[in-house]
Amino acid sequence: MAGFFPVLKIEDFVLRELENEDIEAISKIWGSTKVTEKTTQSPLTHDESIQMLYVIRSLWENDAGIRWGVEKCGGLIGTCGFHNLNRGARRGELGYELDYEYWGRGYMRKALQPVLDYGFNIMRFERVEVFLNVDNDRSDGLLKKLGFKLEGTLRDYALSPKGLMDQSCYSLLKRDWKEQSTQVSARQA
Ligand SMILES: CC(C)(COP(=O)(O)OP(=O)(O)OC[C@H]1O[C@@H](n2cnc3c(N)ncnc32)[C@H](O)[C@@H]1OP(=O)(O)O)[C@@H](O)C(=O)NCCC(=O)NCCS
Repeated sequence: MAGFFPVLKIEDFVLRELENEDIEAISKIWGSTKVTEKTTQSPLTHDESIQMLYVIRSLWENDAGIRWGVEKCGGLIGTCGFHNLNRGARRGELGYELDYEYWGRGYMRKALQPVLDYGFNIMRFERVEVFLNVDNDRSDGLLKKLGFKLEGTLRDYALSPKGLMDQSCYSLLKRDWKEQSTQVSARQA
């Protein structure tokens, strides 16, 4: 996979490789209590954000996944992408986060459309999955709107700063995504 990093575009969103210059914007997002409170992460310090940026960039370099920076009107407002790939079973795990300032506007929903297209068509996934803390209601809403199905609750599945947390397991299959895309194209025709 490593090589030319794919840039994705939709409306006025550009999804592109994260650069060292993004550290101030990214550190604001990853350091926010609001952004991390319903995830398994604690807010990161500036130095921890630098380390995390390095880890995330190495996903692509090591052919282990991909994480895009989400840019709108020239500013970085979040990140999203795939990790924990299982190439044999053609599946990958989706992760994302958005600067709190931009929540409630449908931005992540929009940005994830080309990302899921890329996952199913270029990375050839048959299944994309997401694991969420059970109290992450905004993320539940986002996934349902994208057509993900809730498969169940995994008890004491992940370690978060609050201790072991139950997590919800969501999945989207390529056939569900194709069916939705066909319905949208038919409505637009
Ligand atoms: C998960 C997260 C990205 C969702 O962001 P969000 O802005 O709340 O969600 P969306 O992008 O789907 O926006 C949908 C909301 O915007 C509103 N909205 C406004 N304009 C909209 C539009 N044009 N289109 C769609 N939704 C719109 C919707 O009403 C909806 O609000 P509601 O859920 O209260 O009804 C964000 O909460 C976040 O970064 N959380 C922290 C990180 C995290 O939890 N990651 C998941 C673990 S991997």
